[in-house]
Amino acid sequence: MTPDLTTDLIPAGRDAAQAAARVLARGGLVAFPTETVYGLGADATDARAVARLYAAKGRPAFNPLIAHVNDLDTARRIARFDARSLRLAEAFWPGPLTLVLPKAAGCPVCDLATAGLATIAVRVPAHPVAQDILRAFGRPVVAPSANLSGHVSPTTAAHVRSDLTGRIDLIVDGGPVTVGVESTIVGGFDKPLLLRPGGLPRAAIEQVLGIRLVRPAEQTETAATAHPLAPGMLASHYAPHTPVRLDARDLKAGEALLAFGPHPLAGADAGRTLNLSDSGDLVEAAANLFGHLRHLDTTGARAIAVMAVPDDGLGEAINDRLRRAAVPQH
Ligand code: TXA
Ligand code: MG
Repeated sequence: MTPDLTTDLIPAGRDAAQAAARVLARGGLVAFPTETVYGLGADATDARAVARLYAAKGRPAFNPLIAHVNDLDTARRIARFDARSLRLAEAFWPGPLTLVLPKAAGCPVCDLATAGLATIAVRVPAHPVAQDILRAFGRPVVAPSANLSGHVSPTTAAHVRSDLTGRIDLIVDGGPVTVGVESTIVGGFDKPLLLRPGGLPRAAIEQVLGIRLVRPAEQTETAATAHPLAPGMLASHYAPHTPVRLDARDLKAGEALLAFGPHPLAGADAGRTLNLSDSGDLVEAAANLFGHLRHLDTTGARAIAVMAVPDDGLGEAINDRLRRAAVPQH
């Protein structure tokens, strides 16, 4: 399916941004850090590059992708902002927020990247390495999380390498990411919708808008798109291979433990226990979530028992990802 590529891994730095821009310009695929998760980038204006990106991820369908640009002025060339979306962009960009907006006239992003929709998802990432690459390249870059489809999103370059070696051209290593869950996605600005909870807490957005965000009735990432995936497929988007048991109040034999807070459940092997945050800090928990799931997935446990995480702040995004991780695999 995907040709066998040589995947280079280079440390972040000025030369890396130039190297990444060269690979993107020839239609290649570059994984790079954003503050949320590592993204797998392709030239958003090049349909062949975008097609290669879907193939490299092994995506089951052509999901619409997020176009990344380095500032609001550039974003305004690809999407039409109204007063509300502009207020959010000014308050939170660069940062872990994606806005779904009508495409601007003459938007150069290819139809494959937006799955033929009249809207486009846009984000200005804050990570300096992402910023350097976007500036060096000078065109929008589509970037889904840099994992194989169905796997947990990568928060380190090593995660990217283990999923995508031989399938992409370049990995730029900028160390572990800081946020750890994907961006919050907001759309439908006459009646603002929280399409995906993520790294920017809902309350921060509601405060700027002065109204409550509604979640689409169907709690799936693509509920508002014209190409919904089969619910089961989408629901298990973030799943590790090991079964996940939520809201664990005790441990069963052979289970690994994903703990939260200062009082982890007793009885798990030391080698099979990780705590999202000893102090119960949701920001720290988000940053640890995908890495800890990946690690516990390698311990040979019969299941991963997950302690309850409160639903406020980043907890909404953490619990959304945990619920998806708990959907049985086929
Ligand atoms: O933090 C992030 O957002 C990361 C980093 C790399 O930037 N990217 C990411 O991309 O999570 P991805 O492809 O895994 O998620 C994109 C989400 C999907 O749920 C997709 O359905 C939604 O954005 N999306 C894209 N375009 C859309 C549109 N026009 N309308 C509604 N949803 C859209
Ligand atoms: Mg993803």
